[in-house]
Amino acid sequence: MRTVSMEGELVSLRPLRLEDAGALGAVLRDGRVTRMLPPRVRRETGVDFVRRALDAHREGRGRAFAIRPRGAPTPIGQVRLFAWDRGERHAELGYWLRRKDWGRGYGTEAVRLACRYGFATMSLNRVEARVVAGNLRSAGALERVGFHREGLLRRSARLGRGWADEWMYGLLRGELRRGRSGPSGHRAPRLRRSET
Ligand SMILES: CC(C)(COP(=O)(O)OP(=O)(O)OC[C@H]1O[C@@H](n2cnc3c(N)ncnc32)[C@H](O)[C@@H]1OP(=O)(O)O)[C@@H](O)C(=O)NCCC(=O)NCCS
Repeated sequence: MRTVSMEGELVSLRPLRLEDAGALGAVLRDGRVTRMLPPRVRRETGVDFVRRALDAHREGRGRAFAIRPRGAPTPIGQVRLFAWDRGERHAELGYWLRRKDWGRGYGTEAVRLACRYGFATMSLNRVEARVVAGNLRSAGALERVGFHREGLLRRSARLGRGWADEWMYGLLRGELRRGRSGPSGHRAPRLRRSET
């Protein structure tokens, strides 16, 4: 399968590589970023995380992308489609960014680009995301691109020493919203194809 690099208005995505482990490892060491992520990710080094994502790619279970602000060389986070079920044509979305770049629209655009890739290239019918209830930034990014909050998964996430509820989000083919209109808008992304 061809893997694409994608350019949006604010960020570009390209397939994750082992060289990204250092930059992503620094992000994973920040508890403010990992607080609401699954325990496995909270414990992982950058190398562990990237290796796991590359294994999933090789085995056809997912696709992972480094997020870079447009024109910047170094990744500031990642977005990936995992738990890819080719028969049912759905996959789950996961994403995180370094703290100092939150609130700039990068997360929303990365989610939009990854979903677009999922529908166009992976032929998905549905993308889903689980968000710890109360993670409003993450929920905001999903809702901005058209995800629906479909339900509440009770006590489904391990958080610290306890358990948290999660919001279940879903986005169907045809529901992905284009970028915002207006001066601060995100235009529809351009896809650039490259063999990997
Ligand atoms: C989730 C994450 C990727 C979002 O990326 P981001 O670049 O900060 O998000 P954006 O700037 O695109 O903002 C997304 C939405 O968050 C909301 N938001 C922004 N600041 C907020 C705040 N202080 N409080 C609540 N919501 C806020 C807004 O609804 C915004 O959408 P808008 O376009 O309607 O304004 C990023 O915050 C992150 O890495 N968080 C830690 C890891 C994580 O929680 N990952 C998701 C696991 S499900």
